[in-house]
Amino acid sequence: MLSSSFLLSGLLALALPQVIFCQAKCSLVPPKDATTNSKSTSSGTGSGSATSGSNSGSNGDFADVLANGWYPGWLAEDNPPSNISWSKYNTLTFAFATTTSDVNTVALDFISQQALPQFVSQAQEHNVTAILSIGGWSGSMYFSNAMATAQNRSAFVKTVTGLVDKYDVDGIEFDWEYPGKQGIGCNTVSSSDAENFLSFLEELRQDPTGANLVLAAAVSITPWVGSGGEPMTDVSAFAKVLDHISIMNYDIWGSWSPTVGPNAPLNDSCAPVQDGSAVSAVNAWTAAGFPADQISLGLAAYGHSFDVSNSNALSGSNSKTLKLYPAFNAGDQPHGDSQDAQAGTDECGNATPVGGIFNFWGLVDGGFLTTAGNAANGIDYTFDNCSQTPFVYNPTSDVMVSFDDATSFAAKGKFINSMGLKGFSVWHILGDYNDILLDAVSDAMGIETVCTSSS
Ligand SMILES: *[C@@H]1O[C@H](CO)[C@@H](O)[C@H](O)[C@H]1NC(C)=O
Ligand SMILES: *[C@@H]1O[C@H](CO)[C@@H](O)[C@H](O)[C@H]1NC(C)=O
Ligand SMILES: *[C@@H]1O[C@H](CO)[C@@H](O)[C@H](O)[C@H]1NC(C)=O
Ligand SMILES: *[C@@H]1O[C@H](CO)[C@@H](O)[C@H](O)[C@H]1NC(C)=O
Ligand SMILES: *[C@@H]1O[C@H](CO)[C@@H](O)[C@H](O)[C@H]1NC(C)=O
Repeated sequence: MLSSSFLLSGLLALALPQVIFCQAKCSLVPPKDATTNSKSTSSGTGSGSATSGSNSGSNGDFADVLANGWYPGWLAEDNPPSNISWSKYNTLTFAFATTTSDVNTVALDFISQQALPQFVSQAQEHNVTAILSIGGWSGSMYFSNAMATAQNRSAFVKTVTGLVDKYDVDGIEFDWEYPGKQGIGCNTVSSSDAENFLSFLEELRQDPTGANLVLAAAVSITPWVGSGGEPMTDVSAFAKVLDHISIMNYDIWGSWSPTVGPNAPLNDSCAPVQDGSAVSAVNAWTAAGFPADQISLGLAAYGHSFDVSNSNALSGSNSKTLKLYPAFNAGDQPHGDSQDAQAGTDECGNATPVGGIFNFWGLVDGGFLTTAGNAANGIDYTFDNCSQTPFVYNPTSDVMVSFDDATSFAAKGKFINSMGLKGFSVWHILGDYNDILLDAVSDAMGIETVCTSSS
């Protein structure tokens, strides 16, 4: 029953494309329904007052609804900031500045250096809060060192505020993958990371520049690992210094998993195997004291591909019905779209296979989806009612992809509202057809795009 209404709202979102004719100023209007986003009242005192208004005691005040996405700075040559659908967001996060072995420096690649000033000035033009993200999967190598001692923390505060002054951004996101836990393979890691991270954030908030920033963190589906190596049971102190966290609820299943499974499951308590989901993640973070209304749900505008034989993929003979959780051939990772990572060597010097990632536009480009975002002719499709995500399969090439479409984005939008979350953060925002997804989640949340013609 739930799922059919999700399906319906997804179809409606597709059937009613928002064609907005206007010249200059479009911005988001938060939901009018006072019950949608006020389930829990923030205890946060993270200010961010300069750009986002106070987020404390935000009862019925929707200026704080977050419609956020990550802009991939390293792709700026082909996809400059002028390509962004600015009216779909009220915040955008530029990815990434990366940590270096020198606590006094963070790095931006050459393309990002050119793009960041354009990104910031266009964000200002569009009334969109501009956040710069530090870290990422391959940029988190030296966070642990930068946070390790009081002296380094003070130096890193200066580094961060220097970056803010230089690029005039409204906020900073820390995408540390991960405090207290190895990520890419060669990060410095310490059991004191989470504790040091908190001390650092508190010091950053004390700084006159830091006091007025939007401060955010990108996080995994369980709370930061504490000194004992387990997820922390009380992260409430972080909520007092951060404006929001974005939960990276994707890459939950992929080439490393035992079977095909959902990239970005909404739910997993109804699944045959519990590997995490938006439901479990929001439960875990709120149980550890992070207020729901400071949590943004990370959404995936991409999918993971798997090589699956016809007999494993399809039930029965002559059937076009896709099976959930089929076995796949791990030795034959399909290539993703033209932006997919090639096989090579990562930042640690370790060999890495091809990524196998299809962005939403890449699924259209690759013949899986029509330009409206539906399964193309000759492509098998199923919608998993537990994860609330779709799968497509090309029976000729044996490629199956777990991804997100308008229906799954709408389901996540409803979940965001029903849990009283702050909003969403989309990885990543560039590419044709993404507006299909953005409209679906925004419609489900009751967020509207309005335009006022400029004089
Ligand atoms: C800018 O955005 C804020 C909150 O998102 C809103 O209150 C304000 O009216 C907007 N200003 C303009 C000029 O659109
Ligand atoms: C402090 O930062 C410097 C880099 O600037 C680094 O060499 C040193 O190891 C850091 N201290 C600790 C204890 O990690
Ligand atoms: C998740 O699944 C459980 C078990 O089936 C169900 O009780 C719950 O309502 C589901 N939650 C959502 C948000 O779909
Ligand atoms: C999901 O639910 C719909 C409607 O109840 C149903 O038609 C469909 O077969 C279900 N999908 C799966 C994969 O079970
Ligand atoms: C901008 O975006 C469009 C559509 O997403 C894409 O086709 C184009 O290659 C991008 N780059 C430039 C420079 O316009």
